[in-house]
Amino acid sequence: MEIISNPTHGEIKKAAKALNDGHLVAFPTETVYGLGADATNEKSVSRIYSVKGRPTDHPLIVHISSINQLEKWAIEIPDYAIKLAEEFWPGPMTLILKRSDLAKNFITGGQDNVGVRVPSHPLAFELLNEFEKLGGLGIAAPSANRFGAVSPTSSKAVVEEIGSKLSNLDFIIDGGKSNVGLESTIIDCTNEPPAILRPGAITVEMINFFAHLEVHGQDRKADIRVPGLFKVHYSPKADVVLDSNAISGDGFIALAWIPTPKNAIRLGAPNSIEEFAKELYELLRQGDNMKLKRIVICSPTGDGLALAIRDRLNKATKK
Ligand code: TXA
Ligand code: MG
Repeated sequence: MEIISNPTHGEIKKAAKALNDGHLVAFPTETVYGLGADATNEKSVSRIYSVKGRPTDHPLIVHISSINQLEKWAIEIPDYAIKLAEEFWPGPMTLILKRSDLAKNFITGGQDNVGVRVPSHPLAFELLNEFEKLGGLGIAAPSANRFGAVSPTSSKAVVEEIGSKLSNLDFIIDGGKSNVGLESTIIDCTNEPPAILRPGAITVEMINFFAHLEVHGQDRKADIRVPGLFKVHYSPKADVVLDSNAISGDGFIALAWIPTPKNAIRLGAPNSIEEFAKELYELLRQGDNMKLKRIVICSPTGDGLALAIRDRLNKATKK
C-alpha cells in the first residue's frame, strides 16, 4: 500500500485510476476517513468487507462529487431531499433514498434503498472528480476502521486500523485531521417526514432553520428497519465509562473547564463542543496506545452536535 502525503494532482489521478482498476483507496473526508472502492465493482466492494471484517449485510454509503450525480443512484427523490441536498451538500450528511438499478445488493445490503453523500473535503472532491472523469459513477466508502472499532480521523489512524490488510496496489491519501471528527448525519428520506438515523454535525436545529423542514429526531428510528445501525459500536479497547468518578490510572476526557480528578490521566480538554467532536476518536486511540484499562468521559450536555457526541459515547461504552 502506498501512502500519499501532500498529494499532487497527478497523485490523485493515480489514486483515481487505482479505484477504476478495482483497487482500494482510503481517503480523507471532513467527517472521518473512508475506505473507498468503485461502487459498481462487486469484487472491489467485497474487499472492503474483508479488510474491515464487516458483515456483508451492512449497507455502504455511495460518495459522489455533486448533487448532479444523485439521480444515477436514487429514484423517486422527494422534494424535501433535494432541498436538504442543496442546503447541506457538500457536507457531513448522508441521505437514504430509494435505490436505482445501479445500486446493487452488494452496496445496499439487499435493501431497496441506498445511502448517498457528497463530502466536502477538497481531496475527496478531487478524487471523486478524477474518478468520474474515468467513467466512475460513485465511490462506496465506509469508515476506514476494523468493524466495531473507532473511526479514523487521520491517515495514521487508518494505517493502524487496516494498513496491514491492504495490498501493494491500494492507496491511503493523507489529508490531515478530519475537521468534524464524527461520522455524517444519516437521514432517512424514504418516508415523510424525514428521520435522523444517526446524528451528526448537520443537526435537527440546522435542518429546521436552514431547510425549513421538520425532521424526526433519532428517537423515531425504532420503527425503521436499518440493519447494522443498532449493533454497530464505536469502541476503543479500553472500557469507556461515562459521567462517573475517575480513579487513579484512569484516562479522563472532559471539556476544558472541568478539573482533572486526582491521579487520573487527562487525555483531552477540548475548549468547545466542536473541538470535543473533532478530538474524541483520536483521544480514545491515545488511551488505547497508552494501554489504559478505563477511560472516564464527562459527556457534553445540550442539543446539536453534543447529541451526536453522546450517541457515539453511548455506543463506545458497549462491548
Ligand atoms: O461520515 C460518514 O458517513 C463516513 C464517511 C467515510 O463518509 N462513512 C461512514 O460509513 O460512516 P459507515 O459504513 O462506517 O457507516 C455508515 C452507516 C452504517 O451503519 C450503515 O449501516 C448505514 O450507514 N447505512 C448505509 N447505507 C444505508 C442504507 N441504505 N440504509 C440504512 N442504513 C444505511
Ligand atoms: Mg463505520
